[in-house]
Amino acid sequence: MTTPHRIDMHVDPIDRESSLIADVRGGLSARPRWLPPKWFYDERGSVLFDAITELPEYYPTRTERHLLRTCAPEIARITQARTLAELGSGSSEKTQVLIEALTAQSNLTTYVAQDVSESALLGGMTALADRYPGLDIHGVVSDFSAGNFREGLRSMPHYPDTLLAFLGGTIGNLVPAERRNFFAAMREKLGPGEHLLIGIGLVTDEATMLAAYDDAAGVTAEFNKNVLHVLNRELGANFPVQHFTHVAAWDADNSWIEMRLRAQQALRIVIPRAELTISLNAGEEVRTEISAKFELGAFRGELKSAGFEEVAHWLDADERFALLLARADRIVP
Ligand code: SAH
Ligand code: AVI
Repeated sequence: MTTPHRIDMHVDPIDRESSLIADVRGGLSARPRWLPPKWFYDERGSVLFDAITELPEYYPTRTERHLLRTCAPEIARITQARTLAELGSGSSEKTQVLIEALTAQSNLTTYVAQDVSESALLGGMTALADRYPGLDIHGVVSDFSAGNFREGLRSMPHYPDTLLAFLGGTIGNLVPAERRNFFAAMREKLGPGEHLLIGIGLVTDEATMLAAYDDAAGVTAEFNKNVLHVLNRELGANFPVQHFTHVAAWDADNSWIEMRLRAQQALRIVIPRAELTISLNAGEEVRTEISAKFELGAFRGELKSAGFEEVAHWLDADERFALLLARADRIVP
């Protein structure tokens, strides 16, 4: 087994704990109560996410993989990228399709993979290092949302002729104001003429979207509840995980799926390391994730406002998922 080439750590355990405490104090004291989705992804959470991607109900991953197989050669031809940089890369499983095409057509030399989950990143990099021994692979463990995304993206090295990829529809896990900040930080990171490839879930029929977030085998429910295991372990909290129900709901006004955890009975939760005690009423919910689904035109407009010009896009036959390729404009807005 080949070892990955290089890993930079930008998350130290003390900063991680302070950031978790700040999120828990802010989110769990707010109304409605909420937690940011990045805390799902400890080692178990990353394994559960990978299991979700194989569920029959969870169409985004297989749809995006299929799209990538179709359009990767065209992406390589258009971008002529020599560096592929990926945010929230997870297992990098679908990325192999891009790496194949870029290696064949544009002399790809470097792959920079970034993720907050060290275990997922290491797993992905090891698989890639075995498969592409000539590729320079550079891993970055960091939180892309740090410092309103600017600091988060500063942790990524920048090499010439970069194609920046953000796959999986993960952009949908951010609220609109976060998206704006993220696009601005991505635009600042790239030089004029460099490219961004982004995967987005599209609005489709409600039953299909809801089933993807509430599968029959209960894997998504376990993934959702994993955040409570993280809080129990890392902050000494006493969430009785068995007394919470997984909820997935479509919010048509905001055009997003919401995942929530509902207390089945009144609960008094003590979170010692956050110096916080909260009382949940029976039926009270904590929002743990939004997963926005987009209309292509509106999304293209968001990119344009951030200084990206769409070059091409690809949709599956059922129009449930899209890949957009955009070029960084000359002028940063
Ligand atoms: N890109 C992969 C994984 C998507 S799952 C795919 O398409 O299948 C979302 C990934 O983003 C996870 O690996 C998670 O650990 C990572 N992630 C979530 N929030 C993050 C953050 N704030 N900073 C860095 N990575 C994050
Ligand atoms: C990572 N992200 C795009 C996934 C999604 O679909 O929003 C996370 C997920 N949540 C529940 N299932 C999958």
